[in-house]
Amino acid sequence: MLKAVILIGGPQKGTRFRPLSFEVPKPLFPVAGVPMVQHHIEACSKVPNLKEILLIGFYQPNEALNSFLLKAQQEFKVAIRYLQEYSALGTGGGIYHFRDQILSGGPQAFFVMNADVCSEFPLVSMLDFHKQHGGSQSYVILGTTANRTQSLNYGCIVANRDTQEVLHYVEKPGTFVSDIINCGIYLFSPSIFQHIAEVFQQNQQELQLEENSSWQRMEVIRLEQDVFSTLAGRGKLYVYKTEGCWSQIKSAGSAIYASRLYLSQYGTTHPERLASTKEGGPTIRGNVYIHPTANVDPSAVLGPNVSIGMGVTVAAGVRIRESIILHGAVLQDHSCVLNTIVGWDSMVGRWARVEGTPSDPNPNDPYSKIDSETLFRDGKLTPSITILGCNVSIPAEVVILNSIVLPHKELSRSFKNQIIL
Ligand code: GTP
Repeated sequence: MLKAVILIGGPQKGTRFRPLSFEVPKPLFPVAGVPMVQHHIEACSKVPNLKEILLIGFYQPNEALNSFLLKAQQEFKVAIRYLQEYSALGTGGGIYHFRDQILSGGPQAFFVMNADVCSEFPLVSMLDFHKQHGGSQSYVILGTTANRTQSLNYGCIVANRDTQEVLHYVEKPGTFVSDIINCGIYLFSPSIFQHIAEVFQQNQQELQLEENSSWQRMEVIRLEQDVFSTLAGRGKLYVYKTEGCWSQIKSAGSAIYASRLYLSQYGTTHPERLASTKEGGPTIRGNVYIHPTANVDPSAVLGPNVSIGMGVTVAAGVRIRESIILHGAVLQDHSCVLNTIVGWDSMVGRWARVEGTPSDPNPNDPYSKIDSETLFRDGKLTPSITILGCNVSIPAEVVILNSIVLPHKELSRSFKNQIIL
């Protein structure tokens, strides 16, 4: 029997995802038409004998999360539970705190996945690899190759070329260490908890020496820095390298990039989710997802890489490219939306142009992963995608370029390179 844990973080996390994470917990933000973590859950549901998925985070349980989990449970026919940490315990502290729940029923192994990654989730291949590399006494990290500069933003892995044993692990190194990076997807045998316990005991000893140390601080454990770094070179930690697509979803810009990856996967995994040009329907270019309840005028042109949410209205002559349009939004006649996320219930007026600058990886470099982009560099706003928060209104005939508009704003003129509060 197997299980899976998805680390979903909490409200103080995902700051680079604002203002979109004000409205919906980031793990539920739609990527290629479905909530970000649904992609993880679906991948888990295809692993034979995977009996339970545990989401661990520090969000207060809420209506959106509960109803999503209920629906996903029914759709994917797997037990799913949310376990709430009393505060942020780190990527290792949460699983250690809930170790009894994870181990109940006696799983032979369990996956742990960061919620904010986009992947093909080669979980079955990871299982096979795990069996061939130590089984019950070993742990597997999914790795991929990045270019030298970008590797510095990730956990870097030095591995034995023949055995794939992890010899050295450094999280976000200051100088180049390795081009193999940690994808935030792991397969652990239950014995991993002995190693996390060592870190916990060490924290306890160190903190006992300090006055006013709290129980909570002892429980904060980072899998990457505290556990992987010490396990490396001890014949227990292995890297399974994937050639499949992978990216992180840190900023809103990277959500558009991740949408593109998932939409292209739909070609093989979910062709029914991809729209096509049909008699009497809009013109579709490349991969486009349209929610069945959306109302799209036949003269609109959509794509590539467009996701249209529930109840969205796309009027006559509208052009949309490389964008995510969230539920309830209205794009009026002849408006143009490029490299933008249009927030829930927002309105783009007639002939308005809303445009951002993509923050894609270098298209000529296959090993270039999307970076955690910075909004400001040298005190200046760097060109980014445009984001309209929830319930924003853009008047007719204006241009909004590389800007972020906070929720509930009614604009009256054009803006360029601004955060509109
Ligand atoms: P940054 O670039 O600083 O964001 O680092 P990172 O990519 O290593 O990400 P981080 O470790 O912050 O988060 C990785 C994943 O774990 C994300 O999906 C987070 O939501 C989740 N996560 C981070 N901290 C916690 C925590 O304290 N508890 C839980 N349950 N999840 C967490």
